[in-house]
Amino acid sequence: MDRVFSGIQPTGDMHLGNYLGALRNWVRMQTQYECLYCVVDLHAITLWQEPADLSKHILEVTAGLVASGLDPKTNIIFNQSRVSAHAELAWVFNCVARLGWLNRMTQFKDKAGKNRENASVGLYAYPNLMAADILAYKATHVPVGEDQKQHLELARDIAQKFNNDYGVEHFPQPEPVIQGPATRVMSLRDGTKKMSKSDPSEASRITMTDSADDIAQKIRRAKTDMEPLPDSAKGLEARPEAANLIGIYAALSDTSADAVCQKFAGAQFSAFKEALTELAVASLAPIGTKMADLMKNQDYLDEILIDGANRARAIAEPILAETYKIVGLRR
Ligand code: TYM
Repeated sequence: MDRVFSGIQPTGDMHLGNYLGALRNWVRMQTQYECLYCVVDLHAITLWQEPADLSKHILEVTAGLVASGLDPKTNIIFNQSRVSAHAELAWVFNCVARLGWLNRMTQFKDKAGKNRENASVGLYAYPNLMAADILAYKATHVPVGEDQKQHLELARDIAQKFNNDYGVEHFPQPEPVIQGPATRVMSLRDGTKKMSKSDPSEASRITMTDSADDIAQKIRRAKTDMEPLPDSAKGLEARPEAANLIGIYAALSDTSADAVCQKFAGAQFSAFKEALTELAVASLAPIGTKMADLMKNQDYLDEILIDGANRARAIAEPILAETYKIVGLRR
């Protein structure tokens, strides 16, 4: 049976990268698959989070998921810490994954920075918890942005090693679903850096709660080069900022970078930026308004998370019980 699992960290404002790289595909998949969408709060605390901010961000991200078009009745929307199977299976995977595998993870190196000795153990073991998130449900499809590819490969390795070590066909090999023209949205200030919640510059990202004016200003100030727009996507090579803005336009208008280049061939950035602003405002402003509305009813958001967790637990618990049996922790 096909089953979708994906997650998002409640560590700051959701941004255009999250929306185009992940959320839009989540929305698309909800009609075809049984889907679990998880606010991964246990992942969030691998880096320091102020408790009051964390609990607010959990609700905000939940509001963002619903406002983006995910139906909390048909999908299972919940926060990770409510379902203990994630942490329990992660421990088993801590004992399956090898140090050498984790040593290769580029995200740990990026996030730990120079002072690696001072990083939390959780940050290092993060990919094992992520594998547990997916495999606790035997999920087969995982829609993510490009930056999660390496973690997904690790999840596949863990599933395979578990199956080999215990001589079983217990866990499936989860497939990454990395789809669309904006699987890696870049910073508006630097086309070689990923758009990220943790970038100190607010101008580097468009968030889902930005006002129309904020969006317009950020796009107007987005870095570009001096050339007019090319007539095909080939002309975007070695033009990271142009490629990024065209990719965003393509994703928002559900077309390809090539088609956008054809439409704006020879135009100056000023004209293109105006069109992009209009499109971004039309796509994001209604979501921001809906998020703000949902945040006024936090009890409703809690209900979604509690109900989602109950439904998630019903799937994960038998899989965890069977895993414990295979390992020999139960008769
Ligand atoms: P997170 O919270 O960083 O991001 C959530 C989703 O948004 C995608 N994304 C992007 N896509 C395109 N361009 C960008 N600039 C960009 N920034 C973020 C991410 O790829 C992701 O799909 N480790 C995950 C959360 C996680 C998870 C999981 C995902 C935990 N367990 C199990 C899938 C399955 C993360 O930190 O995502």
